[in-house]
Amino acid sequence: MYFKESNGFPETFLWGSASAAYQIEGAASEDGKGVSNWDQFVRIPGKTFKATTGDLAVDHYHRFKEDIALMAEAGLKTYRFSIAWTRIIPDGNGEVNEKGLAFYDAIIDECIKYGIEPMVTVYHWDMPQALQDQYGGWENRQIVKDYVRYATTLFEHFGDRVHYWITMNEQNVFTSLGWLTGMHPPGKVMDQKMFYQVNHHANMAHAYSVLELKKRYPDAHVGASFAYTPGYAWDCKPINAMAKADYDDLQNYFWMDVYAYGRYPKAAIRYLESNGIHIQMEAEDQKIMKQAAALIDFMGVNYYQTAAIEYNPIDGVGMSTEVNTTGKKGTAKEEGIPGLYKKPSNPYLEKTDWDWTIDPMGIRMCCRDITSRYDLPIVISENGLGAFDKLEEDNVIHDPYRIAFLEAHLKELKKAIDDGCDVWAYCTWSFTDLLSWLNGYQKRYGFVYVDREEDDTTAKLNRYKKDSFYWYQNVIKTNGKDL
Ligand code: BG6
Repeated sequence: MYFKESNGFPETFLWGSASAAYQIEGAASEDGKGVSNWDQFVRIPGKTFKATTGDLAVDHYHRFKEDIALMAEAGLKTYRFSIAWTRIIPDGNGEVNEKGLAFYDAIIDECIKYGIEPMVTVYHWDMPQALQDQYGGWENRQIVKDYVRYATTLFEHFGDRVHYWITMNEQNVFTSLGWLTGMHPPGKVMDQKMFYQVNHHANMAHAYSVLELKKRYPDAHVGASFAYTPGYAWDCKPINAMAKADYDDLQNYFWMDVYAYGRYPKAAIRYLESNGIHIQMEAEDQKIMKQAAALIDFMGVNYYQTAAIEYNPIDGVGMSTEVNTTGKKGTAKEEGIPGLYKKPSNPYLEKTDWDWTIDPMGIRMCCRDITSRYDLPIVISENGLGAFDKLEEDNVIHDPYRIAFLEAHLKELKKAIDDGCDVWAYCTWSFTDLLSWLNGYQKRYGFVYVDREEDDTTAKLNRYKKDSFYWYQNVIKTNGKDL
């Protein structure tokens, strides 16, 4: 739609940035922290770029005051961060670690001191390894109880100060990469039955924790963050339009419908059952999923890119177990599901050095689709550009490509708001540079450069503001009016 005048961003708009515990904190075994699945997984040779780990990360554990002061200087209205389960309950289901609670108390209080609204992600992929060893982690239904106890511990301890909660970060990503492509822990490849079962456990963990939160804090705002990759039908051939419908049901609505409606898309379930995949549910599950869906306040969206969708014959390409983790453009491979769809490279879009399409309009598509389908408010919980940055003399970093990327996305987000989408927040990924799970430290996302490369022993960890820092500061100061 086209509007002669833009209403712009609402006065209450939450301009923010996001991070995740494993990617920034470091201090991997300090103050009683337990070992996580990621602490262990990264030690398997060949899993991460140059064998990087989060042992030190960007040492946010010891430098959070400096980092939050920089957020305040940029003018952030919200800071989204995740809590490491292993700091709160080191072995997953035993004693609570008071030092872990104290660390996040300090972060939350520091944010509040500067008027920054803390937005907390309960789970951003780092599960206690002890639960993997005890009973197979997400593969066992027991995880639902342990997750809900962990989440409830957070709600009870921090709920007086935290008004925005995200139960799960990118459930679609950690399940797919953990049980289909093997790139995340526990590294299983094409275990389809388990993938859908694990995902159902995660849905129930999400649903029960929403109920527990709302029992205690009915006014708290809660949602899950979904990695939404909107699809475009390759062309107007009906078979490609149908491939896009299949893609949506299996790749997008399969998660968002559960969060928003408390049910799986019918066609997806029929497809799975006809392929011998039957999700095991307990008697109450569907009722609980619906109750939780009625209580969520927003859809969290992590938006990075779109995909072109084309019909994929039964003998066509499968899922790729390799991705471009080196930043050498053009090394990503086409992938798909035989008999349904594949994702050819979109010739109309530029790509990043890691072969992610750059498509600002996609963010508007996300918002429009969610608004039409679910009529829910939206929190953009991640959006950003991973790029090589160069620290120049006098410690300056010129990153016009990041400014151009974010500016183009924000212009489209503004249009989405003009379209009537109720967008509450926009969090860039990320504020400081941090560890990219599989891609090391050279794939940088922050407004603040952190002086380190892959090798922990040479890390200086000084913080330097990039040009984009000042740009975002002005965007926030003017509430996006100059965009
Ligand atoms: C999202 C995750 O998938 O994208 C983040 O929630 C992640 O944790 C971000 O870092 C960017 O991905 P990558 O692979 O470039 O680090």
